Amino acid sequence: MSDAHAPLIALHHVSKAFRVVERSPHDPADRRRGPRVVPVLEDITLAVAREEFVTLIGPSGSGKSTLLNIICGLMQPDAGEIRLHGRPIVDRIGHVGYMPQRDLLLPWRTVLDNVLLGPEVMGRDLAEARREALELLPLFGLDGFADHYPATLSGGMRQRAALLRTFLCRQEIVLLDEPFGALDALTRRTMRRWLLGVWSRFRQAVILVTHDVDEAITLSDRVYVLSARPGRILEEVPIDLPRPRETHADDTAAALAPYRQRLLAALGL
Ligand SMILES: Nc1ncnc2c1ncn2[C@@H]1O[C@H](COP(=O)(O)OP(=O)(O)OP(=O)(O)O)[C@@H](O)[C@H]1O
Ligand SMILES: [Mg+2]
Repeated sequence: MSDAHAPLIALHHVSKAFRVVERSPHDPADRRRGPRVVPVLEDITLAVAREEFVTLIGPSGSGKSTLLNIICGLMQPDAGEIRLHGRPIVDRIGHVGYMPQRDLLLPWRTVLDNVLLGPEVMGRDLAEARREALELLPLFGLDGFADHYPATLSGGMRQRAALLRTFLCRQEIVLLDEPFGALDALTRRTMRRWLLGVWSRFRQAVILVTHDVDEAITLSDRVYVLSARPGRILEEVPIDLPRPRETHADDTAAALAPYRQRLLAALGL
């Protein structure tokens, strides 16, 4: 039975290592050594509530993408447990919408057909998903681009198309792996504001991965800071500020400053 008071998703003491085979064709001794074990995540315990916006921040290689792969069920942890609504559920793919680190739009499908890929894979009613997608294109800044191919879109538009595909799956949890990583600072800022609008409309829980301290502070209810590999949770920082947080007012900037200092210190920057 599901527990109404349990967090939407909770990870308990999750660890993961990769076995990497490094073979040199010139060194026969390599063949005898066997795979090298690389610990990537160590004892990760975290929880996300319904409709909560949680961010994971950490250095490159700290295992953030691996953690999202584990949360959505594409990978299994070596140790630990993942609970959905308080129950251990191994097959989480049907519960979680995932936007991987690269947008992965299919170049031979139009924007609309790319956006419908998620609902298609989920086996949703396609006529209904199509109607909904067409209705949502303006909110995602893609009005009039339904029949365009990805190559003709700007970077920001491609990201928004990938986001629409993810949100359209209508899962309780949405995982976003550096959705704005490849964009310039100005576009990122606009996209952050826009993402908050989308989140307040869809009201799904979001787990966002970023390298960007300001992105974490302006968007999140809570931030988890990961260490360098193997990723451990160094700190959990609730951001107790009203939104929107990216304004020009001096008092807003002053309110953000202690959070920025705390996150930068935790990251050793
Ligand atoms: N399938 C795999 N096999 C072996 N090693 C892997 C595999 N996937 C990831 N790794 C290693 O695990 C570590 C963590 O990778 P991961 O992609 O999770 O980091 P990340 O925190 O997302 O980094 P970035 O911020 O650069 O995206 C890296 O050292 C990477 O080389
Ligand atoms: Mg990554």
